[in-house]
Amino acid sequence: MTGTSPIRIGLLGYGTVGSAVHRLLRDSAESIERVTGQPVEVAAALVRDPARHADAPDGLLTTDFARLRDDPTISVVAEVMGGIDPTREYVLALLGAGKSVVSANKQLLSQHGDELFGAAERNGVQLRFEASVCAAIPVVKVLRESMIVTNVHRIDGIVNGTTNFILTRMIQSGAPYADALAEAQALGYAEADPTEDVTGADAAAKIAILASIAFHTRMRLEEVDHVGINLLDLADVEHAAELGYAVKLIASAWRSGGEVAARVHPCLLAANHPLAAVDGAFNAVMLQGSSIREVILEGPGAGGEETATAVIGDVVAVIGTQGTGFLQHDVHYRDVGRFPPGRLQSPCYLRFTVDDTPGVLAQVAQQLADHDVSVAQVVQHPGEAGVHIVILTHRAAEGDVRAAADGVAAKDFSRTAPVLLPVLERHADAT
Ligand code: NAP
Ligand code: HSE
Repeated sequence: MTGTSPIRIGLLGYGTVGSAVHRLLRDSAESIERVTGQPVEVAAALVRDPARHADAPDGLLTTDFARLRDDPTISVVAEVMGGIDPTREYVLALLGAGKSVVSANKQLLSQHGDELFGAAERNGVQLRFEASVCAAIPVVKVLRESMIVTNVHRIDGIVNGTTNFILTRMIQSGAPYADALAEAQALGYAEADPTEDVTGADAAAKIAILASIAFHTRMRLEEVDHVGINLLDLADVEHAAELGYAVKLIASAWRSGGEVAARVHPCLLAANHPLAAVDGAFNAVMLQGSSIREVILEGPGAGGEETATAVIGDVVAVIGTQGTGFLQHDVHYRDVGRFPPGRLQSPCYLRFTVDDTPGVLAQVAQQLADHDVSVAQVVQHPGEAGVHIVILTHRAAEGDVRAAADGVAAKDFSRTAPVLLPVLERHADAT
């Protein structure tokens, strides 16, 4: 596009997250160049065993860390290998070599943040870590930038995708604990050592990071008491459900007066608590502060591509803040087509006010069938202008539901204009 030389990035790790970073960088190359003004390419990726990655491009993988550290053309490295040793040394060496680092490693940051940020500062480079907490949810950016003057005094969150996935599977499908954990591992949600997930150590590292940002202090992992779901008895989850409560692994941090605290513990949540409905590998973080009252961020908390989006966001932030044209022009706007709203898919609520005479319901049903709209529920109530036939449809194109409703409205038995209200679904594709 611009003809400028590419920004070359290195990857420490080419597993669930690293390979997804590479894939998304290639798939989104044009968009990234449009917003940064420069193309981005992956120069090399460090692994232990290249034979495990037969589908990686030739020449990309290396077992030699020095190839990344000593390559002067690599300016940014994404640390997506996890662990503390040798990762800590590698990151320090990269920062020392003048390279910015973006990391998805909450254990590293919550245990060695002081040392690493010190090294970044001394070397005039950046250390970013959005992907280390809640994968795709930009909670670090929100706390660090958007809420810079917000007096956050409490954080409650579901910050571990694996345990939330396990609890959801056990409760909703009756899956045994071991099967649910194996499924989370197969989906790439769990840590290399899943005891970090189930004992609450992963969540403890994440809340330590969030508390450090929100409370402007350095809270370390060892300061966070944590109890995981490995000690949770399903009987207590069932008893809680009978009382109207969900059980979730909650990471909390509080600031009170001049003091702070944080912990991770399985907690009961009333059915109407916003975190009670967060299921599967989703995470959510509730931030409370005097000027904001309450802000909730929710989204995918684990998974290769989900986490890769946050890693790439940090890479773009590093490049963009080097003054390369980030958002300076309106070249990031494109001419894109518009699709008609009638193509939107959802279940719909319909209310027809009609004559209460034989055959009316059958004709209403026929109109829906003629437009490929399937009925999920029907009820009838007396109304002032006529009888109300209330229908909940299955998922359908709203244009088809509208056409069916117009067909009913045109009938002699129709007394008033039909009412059509879409049902808002969670996590459903709109078209
Ligand atoms: P993974 O699938 O186990 O991948 C780790 C990668 O790092 C592998 O390619 C591995 O090489 C490489 N590696 C590990 N130790 C190495 C060493 N000593 N020398 C050279 N290469 C080494 O892990 P992941 O799930 O992608 O997670 C990576 C990081 O992202 C972790 O810090 C994790 O906490 C974080 N994270 C993961 C998720 C998620 O949903 N998976 C979400 C948020 C954050 P080989 O391929 O040769 O084994
Ligand atoms: N193992 C972590 C989880 C990955 O399940 O939440 C995301 O940090």
